[in-house]
Amino acid sequence: MNILGIGTDIVECPRIGKMIEQHGELFLRRVYTDREIRYCQARKHAIEHFAGRWAAKEAILKALGTGWSRGISWTDLEVRNDPSGRPKVLIRGGAKDVAIRQGIADMLISISHCRTYAVAYAVATGIDRVAGERRSAVDTADEETSLDPDLGGDQADPETETETETDSGE
Ligand SMILES: CC(C)(COP(=O)(O)OP(=O)(O)OC[C@H]1O[C@@H](n2cnc3c(N)ncnc32)[C@H](O)[C@@H]1OP(=O)(O)O)[C@@H](O)C(=O)NCCC(=O)NCCS
Repeated sequence: MNILGIGTDIVECPRIGKMIEQHGELFLRRVYTDREIRYCQARKHAIEHFAGRWAAKEAILKALGTGWSRGISWTDLEVRNDPSGRPKVLIRGGAKDVAIRQGIADMLISISHCRTYAVAYAVATGIDRVAGERRSAVDTADEETSLDPDLGGDQADPETETETETDSGE
């Protein structure tokens, strides 16, 4: 595995709870995708899950190596959970452009949270070239890869789905 970047982040859950309380829908829509909002709101300790996704997005940015620049928005980064609960990352929009430019094919993520803190750790991996086979999340339909729009059980957002179909151009 070709590791191109790592990132970690920690956030206080009550801080996220406060932002939700103060700014409500405006905050949620700015930071989280519809799918993430549905996932978190369906859970008993919703704020912990929202905080976990906040930490994940910050960790992913660090792994991308750019910070909040180059036209990246919060909702370019989406955390989805597979049926076992394992989180996966979907990258779209400006963040996807950055990932492609840097040869990033996949973004691994691990999240943990309790009442007080949420933490996340992200690892950006490059394109594997094994026996001449190119395996990249950017332009394959592999369900295990992070840039694939069809990852996860829910219906993908139709308006964003097309954004993820661009090829890396390689
Ligand atoms: C994965 C597991 C070890 C999480 O540990 P925990 O101490 O309860 O909770 P943590 O706060 O440390 O971690 C929660 C995060 O773990 C991640 N997670 C959940 N299942 C996971 C899995 N199978 N593999 C990797 N990560 C997983 C998720 O990102 C979750 O946060 P999110 O729901 O906001 O996305 C535990 O839940 C487990 O063993 N789950 C498997 C069995 C199970 O209960 N499945 C229920 C879903 S069907």
